[in-house]
Amino acid sequence: MFGKKSETGGIKPVILPPGPAAAAAHPAASQLGRAAIPEIKLAGATPAAPPPAAPVVDKPHAEAKHKSESYYDIKSTIFNALIDAIDLTQLGQLDRDAARDEIRDIVNEIIALKDVVMSIAEQEELLEDICNDVLGYGPLEPLLARDDIADIMVNGASAVFIEVDGKMQKTGVRFRDNSQLLNICQRIVSQVGRRVDEASPICDARLPDGSRVNVIVPPLSIDGAALTIRKFKKDRLRLPDLVKFKSITPEGATVLEIIGRVRCNTLISGGTGSGKTTLLNCLTGYIDSDERIITCEDAAELQLQQPHVVRLETRPPNLEGEGAITMRELVKNCLRMRPERIIVGEVRGPEAFDLLQAMNTGHDGSMGTLHANSPREAISRLESMITMGGFSLPSKTIKEMIVGSIDVIVQATRLRDGSRKITHITEVVGMEGDVIITQDLFIYDVSGEDANGKIIGKHRSTGIARPHFWDRARYYNEERRLAEALEKAETRDAGV
Ligand SMILES: Nc1ncnc2c1ncn2[C@@H]1O[C@H](COP(=O)(O)OP(=O)(O)OP(=O)(O)O)[C@@H](O)[C@H]1O
Ligand SMILES: [Mg+2]
Repeated sequence: MFGKKSETGGIKPVILPPGPAAAAAHPAASQLGRAAIPEIKLAGATPAAPPPAAPVVDKPHAEAKHKSESYYDIKSTIFNALIDAIDLTQLGQLDRDAARDEIRDIVNEIIALKDVVMSIAEQEELLEDICNDVLGYGPLEPLLARDDIADIMVNGASAVFIEVDGKMQKTGVRFRDNSQLLNICQRIVSQVGRRVDEASPICDARLPDGSRVNVIVPPLSIDGAALTIRKFKKDRLRLPDLVKFKSITPEGATVLEIIGRVRCNTLISGGTGSGKTTLLNCLTGYIDSDERIITCEDAAELQLQQPHVVRLETRPPNLEGEGAITMRELVKNCLRMRPERIIVGEVRGPEAFDLLQAMNTGHDGSMGTLHANSPREAISRLESMITMGGFSLPSKTIKEMIVGSIDVIVQATRLRDGSRKITHITEVVGMEGDVIITQDLFIYDVSGEDANGKIIGKHRSTGIARPHFWDRARYYNEERRLAEALEKAETRDAGV
């Protein structure tokens, strides 16, 4: 009874007006009399119905169910009583199971005292909800526990969406009110030493499991706090998984594997949530274990498996607007850390220049992702990032720099049916006049849509037998595997 406030270790008898059943067990309570007892009934629950023998909790995806208003009323009454009865600081010192047992005891007492009519299954559900509120991230907990969710998007207290299998769905999850949501946002960001409030209403953070979090609160978000979570995948996806999902063909995957291994400078391009970071993670999987890798990210998401990795993260400015460390500063600093490969989570500004410089000056095999809808657009985005970064270089020089640095652009796309595909593996091969020339090795052609709205399409090789990075592949003794993969892709396309 460690978490409770009362010195005797018992629940404060004044918390609730007791019901008749509890009156005998709580003599002090009986003095309050029957008149003060509001009997609470859960909508749809019949008092006469015997409770089921064992707790039956509607576990799988219980959060998808819309709960009734009366459920929330009862929960709120019991929750408030619990908060009065319990010492949250002491509770915080208990491990999760002990804290849960403690809460269970008190909630059961409250339910008995209050004469709440609910089945054991409902009680279990209520207990689960209350434990989540007190110990974790409240109504988000069941969503956080699911590994099939890619994103959780909270738009104010009563609209929570998730992305599953590339599709957006509205859930039945809701918060008590905007202030509960704000409290949970605060709890999340305080774990990484930040604050979110009117004075600094935007904040990036990370959950202890590595999930990436963005919070934006009123007055900037108009209908209550907006919370976006990119769930961290416990089992990170690897290239064979992408082949299984038909995001790429086995031959395409082999070519990507070789690109990762033979130190091609690679850009991964794609829209929001198209799978760029996942792909970058996959490619880094083929880096030899004796290479020194330095990663620079806004919120550390990459999961490199190599033993020799230094992970760096940018820092936003503090409340006074000071102390920010930008991506550009990180990338520049990297160069003084004797890196062999530099991996930039997302290139979005003037750091593009430093990354290209690094790629050009003996850090082959560096990689980064960038927001663009095609390899060509990725190139123009790079150019404009450098131009807007204030480097007064002639356009041709910037283009030459890009051609001299980037070997391969891999394009990730989330199609409208929710599936994610690698739509291009493209080489940057040179310049003709003022134009950068690229050549595709693999592309994905969309041919239509079936009756269920699924995209019909096909990966195909473009028939290039000797990519530009052939010599590199030979240097790493990978040319035979490369030739075989390209040949196999071609024969497969020809239907031989
Ligand atoms: N080929 C794929 N097939 C199925 N799911 C995928 C695939 N690639 C990525 N995903 C899933 O899609 C979600 C988004 O992936 P990821 O974080 O890599 O996208 P992103 O392009 O980096 O997003 P952002 O622009 O927000 O940084 C993740 O949950 C990931 O597991
Ligand atoms: Mg990403």
